[in-house]
Amino acid sequence: MTGRPSRRQLFGYAGAAAAGAAVTGGAVALSHNSGAVPTRTPLPRDLSPYGEHQPAIAATSPKHAELVALTLLPSTGKAALGRLMRLWTSDIVALGSGRPAPGDTAPELAVPGVALTVTVGFGAKVFTLPGLTRPRGFSDIPVMSHDRLQPGWTGGDLLILVGADDAVSVVHAVQRLVADAAPFAKPLWRQTGFWNATAPDGSPVTGRNLFNQVDGTGNPAPGTPEFDSTVWAPDGSTTLVVRRIKLNLQTWDELTRSEQERSVGRKLSDGAPLTGTAEHDELDLEKRDADGRLMIAENAHARLSHHSVNDGRRIFRKGLNYVHDTGATRESGLIFLSYQADLVSQFLPMLARLDAADALNEWTTTIGSAAFVIPAGFSEGGWLGRALVG
Ligand code: HEM
Repeated sequence: MTGRPSRRQLFGYAGAAAAGAAVTGGAVALSHNSGAVPTRTPLPRDLSPYGEHQPAIAATSPKHAELVALTLLPSTGKAALGRLMRLWTSDIVALGSGRPAPGDTAPELAVPGVALTVTVGFGAKVFTLPGLTRPRGFSDIPVMSHDRLQPGWTGGDLLILVGADDAVSVVHAVQRLVADAAPFAKPLWRQTGFWNATAPDGSPVTGRNLFNQVDGTGNPAPGTPEFDSTVWAPDGSTTLVVRRIKLNLQTWDELTRSEQERSVGRKLSDGAPLTGTAEHDELDLEKRDADGRLMIAENAHARLSHHSVNDGRRIFRKGLNYVHDTGATRESGLIFLSYQADLVSQFLPMLARLDAADALNEWTTTIGSAAFVIPAGFSEGGWLGRALVG
């Protein structure tokens, strides 16, 4: 570990035990150097931070999210990484139930009931540290022919992905986690995104990307055996791919609606396959129209990414829309996020197939790319990543 921990960090770490103990007790009042902190009680919408897996992955997409990739400082080895993970664990336990992180300098910003979650990942560099081994099925992502990667959105040794239904809570949690990481790692890139997984009446919906496509229909459903075998490695971990994909809304807008639909093979109105009538109808990849043409084209995105043309392999996508404004200029895109037990056998062949032939390539450009191992969850008294870096 570099430098000496700040007073706040020392205080924070000492406060972790109190924070952990308090979770089960419901209402909590932590002491703080600026005075008393309001009582916080987890509300039903807050997920338990404990469990076999990191909890956000199988949960409904949050409205707001921020990802931060960090670079390890040269002096951060296995033992220091373990210290950071214990610090982050105490932050996650507190913030996830709406309580201030240990030593929080803005405790009023920690509020319950916003479904705040934190997901943590390790990039490839972590597994080159003495004493660590890269898990099977994990690798960096090779550069694809259509990629135009920018260093400012690419790579990273550690990842934090914070989600909540309230943007202020996300910013606050990120601020705390990054501050606690300062002696060990420094931010490399940050990405902010948003997603609507809930209709105005509160019912769950699949959500739309900024091309107006219903995006996520083909996903395995959380809670099913298919989801479990797609996402979880035997040790409870998974892998996450982060791709920042610029969408050219201007040239996309020049297409007719039916051209837009043909590029994916699904309808814009409700996401139904061009061969079906309802969103969750199975794709019929053999069906032809009266002229004998395949209704879901050879180069349609939903065909090329379908499990039946990928040796039965699936992934679990959970993208976020983004906009990036520079003065009067706006860039729009998708922070493509995909979870899979084995990145090498599930994700890479699919990515290569899409890079070679996907109709969507004409209107999309990947400008950032990163991959992380997402360690298993932890139980009360345990800490995140212990099986890998403990
Ligand atoms: C350019 C950014 C992308 C956009 C706008 C996009 C959009 C879509 C849309 C609209 C669908 C159909 C609805 C659905 O099943 O969710 C879809 C399906 C899918 N996409 Fe993408 N996608 C993008 C990139 C990718 C990438 C990079 C991959 C993986 C390497 C991927 C993998 C999949 C998969 C597996 C399906 C489900 C196919 C099925 O089983 O029906 N997509 N995507």
